[in-house]
Amino acid sequence: MHNSDASVVNHTDESSYDGAFPSCRLSVAPMLDWTDRHCRYFHRLMSEHTQLYSEMVTTGAIIHGKGDFLAYNEQEHPLVLQLGGSNPADLATCAKLAQARGYDEINLNVGCPSDRVQNGRFGACLMAEPELVAQCIAAMREVVDIPVTVKTRIGIDDQDSYAFLTDFVGIVSEKGGCEQFTIHARKAWLSGLSPKENREIPPLDYPRAYQLKQDFAHLTIAVNGGVKSLEEAKSHLAHLDGVMIGREAYQNPYILASVDQTLFGATRPVIKRRQVVEAMYPYIETQLSNGSYLGHISRHMIGLFQNMPGARQWRRHISENAHKPGAGIEVLEQALAKIPSELDV
Ligand SMILES: Cc1cc2nc3c(=O)[nH]c(=O)nc-3n(C[C@H](O)[C@H](O)[C@H](O)COP(=O)(O)O)c2cc1C
Repeated sequence: MHNSDASVVNHTDESSYDGAFPSCRLSVAPMLDWTDRHCRYFHRLMSEHTQLYSEMVTTGAIIHGKGDFLAYNEQEHPLVLQLGGSNPADLATCAKLAQARGYDEINLNVGCPSDRVQNGRFGACLMAEPELVAQCIAAMREVVDIPVTVKTRIGIDDQDSYAFLTDFVGIVSEKGGCEQFTIHARKAWLSGLSPKENREIPPLDYPRAYQLKQDFAHLTIAVNGGVKSLEEAKSHLAHLDGVMIGREAYQNPYILASVDQTLFGATRPVIKRRQVVEAMYPYIETQLSNGSYLGHISRHMIGLFQNMPGARQWRRHISENAHKPGAGIEVLEQALAKIPSELDV
């Protein structure tokens, strides 16, 4: 038996939150290869209310691919499926499937600048085709009741004026019926920069997102890009409805542990890092018995002790052992033993 205390991850003792906040108040960004279902399960242990996103899934994968691209664990709600695509009929097919599977929201990717995505005519290049995006959103909204939202940038290439952004948002909201936008507050260069560079080089422009909310007060607007703390998130929330955190939430996941208390008014104690690890054990054992490898799950947990004494040893022990054949939760138990026992973390 493991001494994981189920009550610390049973968030249902919550009385302070009455659902008054928009679901996007705090979300973890969709991140390909990072926010898979194991990652989301881990994140959910730390926060009940944070909205979690799938990785981007293309309509082609869902419709023609082998395998279940919509699989998730019930614990992951509230959960958004991010779709990549630009064919309204295909998007509608996928939206319908997603709703039937219980997803809480569907989000269209209008922000990814990778070549592969551009070749498929979706992602950020769709910012230049607001009429088509409106058709995509309308086609999905016609067949589902759950919200259909858009994640986009503030511009692409030389089309980076505020008027370009307002035209896009205006058309997609008025003609497509989209009521919620998440704005990655930097533009994307569609050629010349890698996706990684496109997350770092174009400068962040938060005031532009704030202005958008002022000019489209009836829409729900969340901001994304470069947010590294809940204090920063709070300051954005003075201007906007939501904040989406990407890399910081993945690399320093314990930031999520106080989201419910800081942003949603929860009063229960903040879960400790050790409790999070122990709460993962039953999940990991189930996954291993279904044929998963420890490394596929533990890779998301590497940053849990960031900035704590023993963090390097924790990371190293997992990195060196989790991929070995037959590795199980004892690897995490041993890694946990590297954290000084007097630390109440
Ligand atoms: C590894 C990785 C994968 C990503 N994959 C996606 C994706 O599938 N869909 C998407 O809309 N954005 C994707 N992004 C972009 C993030 O969602 C987010 O917009 C970006 O990282 C900026 O936020 P941040 O500064 O908080 O990380 C990805 C980012 C990273 C680092």
